[in-house]
Amino acid sequence: MKIAVTGGCGFIGSNFINYICRKHPEYNVINLDKMTYAANPLTLQMLRKYKNHSFVKIDIAEAMEIEQILENCEVIVHFAAETHVDRSLQNAENFLTTDIIGTYRIIEAIRKIKVVKKYIHISTDEVYGSIEKGSFAEDARLNPTNPYAASKASADLLVLSYIRCYKIPAVIVRFVNNFGPFQHPEKFIPLAITNAIENKKIPLYGNGFQMRDWLFVEDTCRAIELLIDRGETGEIYHVSAHQEKRNIDVLKKILALLGKDEKLIVSVPDRIAHDVRYSLSCEKIEKLGFQPARNFDDGLVRTVKWYKENQYWWTFIKNSDEFQKYYKNKYPSL
Ligand code: TYD
Repeated sequence: MKIAVTGGCGFIGSNFINYICRKHPEYNVINLDKMTYAANPLTLQMLRKYKNHSFVKIDIAEAMEIEQILENCEVIVHFAAETHVDRSLQNAENFLTTDIIGTYRIIEAIRKIKVVKKYIHISTDEVYGSIEKGSFAEDARLNPTNPYAASKASADLLVLSYIRCYKIPAVIVRFVNNFGPFQHPEKFIPLAITNAIENKKIPLYGNGFQMRDWLFVEDTCRAIELLIDRGETGEIYHVSAHQEKRNIDVLKKILALLGKDEKLIVSVPDRIAHDVRYSLSCEKIEKLGFQPARNFDDGLVRTVKWYKENQYWWTFIKNSDEFQKYYKNKYPSL
């Protein structure tokens, strides 16, 4: 089988390629990535060890040759997106271009080439906005509260329209927050781990009582594999491992694992329109047989271990001019 993966040098995309290339040496995986700030070249170096992986540097929002590249692909998994809420609050333009126009180019190619059997569209719990109690079902009203979430909700709507109008074989999958190896250190968990390793202050927004539901990235990969196989065209699936944690409690666990003092935690001004809690009901994928393999504590131990053992990977990002500038601007008090 030939699979195209967009954004294969990003966090979840690279974990997915790693997972699928190892598990299915008979598959042929083509990785399309623009190599933005979020794609570490060291990740690509890691993926190059797989003989069944090939790489094309491409901006899916601009490229006109996308149809030729996707021509013989039976499956497309579309991860490529700008994903960091805080960056979308500083400047949303890239989010609109990559997340919406990028998706448009992919599904337009699918419509034209007609050989694709399954299109897995990667989405997020953030499209529904915050929920105080209970969980959102797959048909809940979209209510994005920041430009990132709005760009993902727009892309989802576009995909739904293509399912209806052109019967493209799309499956939309909305995940809760992912964590694990190869996640960019601008995100909450890797920022906390790497700052703690470096004995630097760890920024916590507001009181840290906001809740996120955490899924270990390998379980995400397993869910996608299941949906490639058994996901029904035209359907939306939610994936979670039902592991809600307050941000402050996540930080305390990380510091305990690293043997560091909680005094490293520093409260910084809260994010604008910070969603307090996300939650998804997941019976639909559970009926297909999905069960997460890793609990939060186990996943966190693995994640911390990975960041301890792969400092070259994240110091490469953290030492870059781009990151330094971003960090100073975002956390001026640290
Ligand atoms: P993040 O990793 O940015 O994911 P998302 O906003 O998409 O859920 O943030 C996870 C949570 O951690 C979120 O509630 C915001 C909070 N957070 C902090 O408290 N401090 C930080 O420095 C960052 C980046 C996030």
